[in-house]
Amino acid sequence: MNEGIGTLGVIGLGLIGGSVCLAARETGACARIVGWNRNPAVREEACRTGAVDAVTATIAEIAAESDLLVLAVPMLSFPAVLGEIATTLRPGSLVTDVGSAKLSVITAAEEALTGEQLAGLVPAHPIAGSERSGLAAARADLFRGHKVILTPTGKERAGALAQVRAFWKTLGADVQEMDADHHDDVLAMTSHLPHLLAYALVDSLAGEKDSREIFRYAAGGFRDFTRIASSDPIMWHDIFRANRVSVLSGMDLFLSRLRNLRDAIDRADGEEVLRVLTRARASREYFLQLLEERENRPAPPVTFVSAGGAPLQGTLRVPGDKSISHRSIMLGSIAEGMTEVDGFLEGEDALATLQAFRDMGVVIEGPDQGRVRIHGVGLHGLQPPRAALYVGNSGTSIRLLSGLLAGQSFDSEMSGDESLARRPMRRVTEPLARMGAVIETAESGCPPVRIRGGGRLRGIHYDMPVASAQVKSALLLAGLYAQGETAVTEPAPTRDHSERMLRAFGCPVQRVGNRISLQGGATLRAQRITVPADISSAAFFLVAASIQPGSELLLTGVGVNPTRTGVIDILRLMGADITLEQEREEGGEPVADLRVRHAALRGIPIPEALVPLAIDEFPALFVAAACAEGETVLTGAEELRVKESDRIQVMADGLAALGVEAEPRPDGIRIRGGAISGGHVDSHGDHRIAMAFAVAGLRASGPVIIANCANVATSFPGFVALANRAGMKIRTEEAES
Ligand code: S3P
Repeated sequence: MNEGIGTLGVIGLGLIGGSVCLAARETGACARIVGWNRNPAVREEACRTGAVDAVTATIAEIAAESDLLVLAVPMLSFPAVLGEIATTLRPGSLVTDVGSAKLSVITAAEEALTGEQLAGLVPAHPIAGSERSGLAAARADLFRGHKVILTPTGKERAGALAQVRAFWKTLGADVQEMDADHHDDVLAMTSHLPHLLAYALVDSLAGEKDSREIFRYAAGGFRDFTRIASSDPIMWHDIFRANRVSVLSGMDLFLSRLRNLRDAIDRADGEEVLRVLTRARASREYFLQLLEERENRPAPPVTFVSAGGAPLQGTLRVPGDKSISHRSIMLGSIAEGMTEVDGFLEGEDALATLQAFRDMGVVIEGPDQGRVRIHGVGLHGLQPPRAALYVGNSGTSIRLLSGLLAGQSFDSEMSGDESLARRPMRRVTEPLARMGAVIETAESGCPPVRIRGGGRLRGIHYDMPVASAQVKSALLLAGLYAQGETAVTEPAPTRDHSERMLRAFGCPVQRVGNRISLQGGATLRAQRITVPADISSAAFFLVAASIQPGSELLLTGVGVNPTRTGVIDILRLMGADITLEQEREEGGEPVADLRVRHAALRGIPIPEALVPLAIDEFPALFVAAACAEGETVLTGAEELRVKESDRIQVMADGLAALGVEAEPRPDGIRIRGGAISGGHVDSHGDHRIAMAFAVAGLRASGPVIIANCANVATSFPGFVALANRAGMKIRTEEAES
């Protein structure tokens, strides 16, 4: 209820004006509604349908009796209507409007109204409408959830802005403010130009002599593109003229882009055509994503219910390796030429990296069934992103990109989701700062990460305090842009995909003992990359088949890089039956088919040397430990506390909820194997914890219900379908959000 407004006067009872009346009535925004329309038949209809309480015969009359006047007339009628209002408008009254261009409204008002009258004007533009017009099309919910942009004149009296804002809010609108000239430029591009093009396209076809024939075959595309050409011609005629300057500059820009595309097609320049189309599609996707974020529609929470299953059988291929997928996009983008990738992981994390490079102007085709083509722009070809890069849940994206972005000539910023916002970034920003990067995090040392471009990096020798492939990779990527040698010493071996891929792209990377180094300035040359299946995803099936009697699975094409196979070594120490078949090398990475059969597992002390080599597989290994005979003890694994969640605590809590004895320790955990009961656990949005407990459900005496599983899509899209195909019984439930 908007207490301030007694009588609402609406001038113009078409779609928008009529909807203002209906919405005001429904929401109780005012005590009384009076209307005016040029056409007496419409005035009559408004009374008959109850859209208004009364109508007046003249504009002067309605202006005299209204506390808030809404001008909903075609744009070019504003000067005349404002002139008539001015004769009777009371000094204390408020005036707002619904015009699609704002400078012309303000100019007309300044000419027609007295200073006192002008002080009640707050121009508004509701971004809502329909290609249908007239009072009959009016709807009470037209503004609900839509934006209404206010463009204050700067001359309004105290309180006027707040009152008009409150009125539009009462009608259900999301009210925002903008400068009038900025509004007109933005709307010229996003609304006026598309309407103009739709009219022009239909008219181009309609003018052809065989137009009937053309229209007969004009299907979805034409219909979608030209829907808005069914809008009210008078209204749009007025808008194009009222916003002439901005509309013309939008048209000029568009015509030059259209000509460029025309010329590219004419000279058969496929590269340029593809570049434009890919860039446009990526921009549209980016725009839709922004819209979604803005509308604050987080993905609905997903729950897994895992309830037993058959012996696991068959031949499976899990999706592509996440670490290698990230690196393929990064190096492909800054290489010279076209990099072609097969087996790319179409999970949210790797897609976040892909989007980040598109945002920096790289044309990337796909992914299409794991195929991606990256049009490399060279070491110095990235362009400044238009906004902060959003990398979702992906620690690998933000850390590796910190290194790469530190070497660019432009400023950048990266942020991510709630989980990423809690992860430590100083481990990369500190050594990068030593290289000369100007880089900062939030005060907590967590994202967002902001990088000032244009500085000069110099190579350093960094003794890594933690065994982290992400830190090592970030420094090597920065090293490409640094003067001299960049060297990293790792306290224990960590995954070496960056080194292998850099070498494949033609950058000599040296390794002497545990010291890895490269020289700045190398030119990278595009490659063909085959991404192996991700051993981190295969790990869930290695554990599942090991703990489920009667199981035998063949997991094909799995990456078995020795810096990643800790999970196989640990499971074998526990008694697992895993064999490597068809060992081969693909694209510089060792690959094998893994055969795993059920075996009785026993608890072990996990050798600390294996920890970095199995760093992502501990959630699955803890489930193996829960099913093993005796005690498993993990030490030297404090890093697990700063992964996508605190994996020690979250796993200990979940195991305890399933009746398993699990004692968390600062640097690890002690788990006593035994019976597993059904129960509720929370993955805390950690993909690997969600999948680990889904595996636990195989051996639990009742259903295991796992909350917050949506992030499984970050690394293993299709997990549930594949697990069920193998014999597990997992159901997905989407909660109402
Ligand atoms: C990764 C390195 C590891 C790992 C992560 C992926 C990589 O992180 O946990 O999932 O691709 O370099 P740390 O470097 O923090 O150990």
